Amino acid sequence: MNMKFPGYSISLSFSPLTSNFIKNTPRLQVSISRRSPRSLCTSRFFCAKRQLNDKHEAVAKGYLPPWFSVAPMMDWTDNHYRTLARLISKHAWLYTEMLAAETIVHQKDNLDRFLAYSPEQHPIVLQIGGSNVERLAKATELANAYCYDEINLNCGCPSPRVAGHGSFGVRLMLDPKFVAEAMSAIASSTNVPVTVKCRIGVDDHDSYDELCDFIFNVSSLSPTKHFIIHSRKALLNGISPAENRSIPPLKYEYFYGLLRDFPDLTFTINGGIASVDEVIAAREAGAHGVMIGRAAFYNPWNILGHVDTAIYGAPSCGLTRRQVLEKYIVYGDSVLGKYGHKPTVRDIVKPLLNLFHSAPGNGQWKRNADAAFRNCMTIQSFFEETLEAIPDSVLDSPVSEPSPGRTDLFANVDSLLPPPYKTREEAIVICA
Ligand SMILES: Cc1cc2nc3c(=O)[nH]c(=O)nc-3n(C[C@H](O)[C@H](O)[C@H](O)COP(=O)(O)O)c2cc1C
Repeated sequence: MNMKFPGYSISLSFSPLTSNFIKNTPRLQVSISRRSPRSLCTSRFFCAKRQLNDKHEAVAKGYLPPWFSVAPMMDWTDNHYRTLARLISKHAWLYTEMLAAETIVHQKDNLDRFLAYSPEQHPIVLQIGGSNVERLAKATELANAYCYDEINLNCGCPSPRVAGHGSFGVRLMLDPKFVAEAMSAIASSTNVPVTVKCRIGVDDHDSYDELCDFIFNVSSLSPTKHFIIHSRKALLNGISPAENRSIPPLKYEYFYGLLRDFPDLTFTINGGIASVDEVIAAREAGAHGVMIGRAAFYNPWNILGHVDTAIYGAPSCGLTRRQVLEKYIVYGDSVLGKYGHKPTVRDIVKPLLNLFHSAPGNGQWKRNADAAFRNCMTIQSFFEETLEAIPDSVLDSPVSEPSPGRTDLFANVDSLLPPPYKTREEAIVICA
């Protein structure tokens, strides 16, 4: 079977697996060829960085496609979280938090702080935000030296800071022509795939046809062929970003309508998916990729611990939580205070606070952690002081069976599909 994903040509052969939780999930033997990069050696500086790129490209050859990704989440999917996530899953695609193009451009002499990451974090996607084409292009060019595997434009953030004053994030959905222009400029500044993450609508612009007009225009006027769809609309009426992730209802039928109506494009589903069973169900219903946000932060061990086996048919990381912590402590102490007083012990420990989600001892461990934040000066001492609350049986066990999910989450989606999209005159007008 051949399957397309931007930047990849993938040959798959299937043979069944026997383990319980991955029953119905095919084992995939995957061979991937990646597009060879155009030469970008235009300056001495860039040539030096190029050697680094070549090393990263070699790493890139081992990537599997973004069948599973962890969503971009401001203040959550920072370097620390991604380090933890990568220890648990080798194959999940990791997104950065959104970085404003303005920030990248203004901080061009200080970019490591914003853009550097360790090579283990591949495959990794840089999400940028902005509403100025030149700055988006410039930010992409500056980010080239860091060898991200994909550049994603945020067209889904409803935060008033972003959608209001900045007029970017989800507001961009109202101007598909601008998004197409921006994506073309971004694509011409990089040689990695470019993608868009958006909602299914904004305020009253929430019909299926309007969503299709957006996808149609952006995909036909720019090189964007992969869209990540947060399957609820955004409300710009003053509700908080958190409310905007729960109040507007999920409409998975719009997502599956897009799969039907744009068969040449690639779509990743996002929103409200909270278990490995549900990821499998979404893929069985046809989704090319599945992105999980909050559940991967609140329960990283149980979600990410099954991704390599259940989604990719690959071996698991094979680590216990004690081993994950040992590796993380080495990382944490090596970056502690790297930028003056930042990052702090609290910053570095934050993604680990959910590592024992619903495990015996978790409550006591969190109380110990509260106390340890007040006096521990290193990550090592933080764990020495707190870990006694967690039984050895928890620390030394491999990941257990995943929590069951709603395998019928997409069962009725076919009966809810909107009428097929026909390119509308209004849509064609903006192409003229
Ligand atoms: C704390 C937090 C920060 C977020 N920041 C971003 C962001 O920077 N860019 C973005 O596109 N989406 C952002 N999101 C939205 C998520 O990427 C995702 O679309 C949303 O949480 C729905 O997925 P979920 O139901 O799996 O959590 C954020 C979500 C949360 C919870």
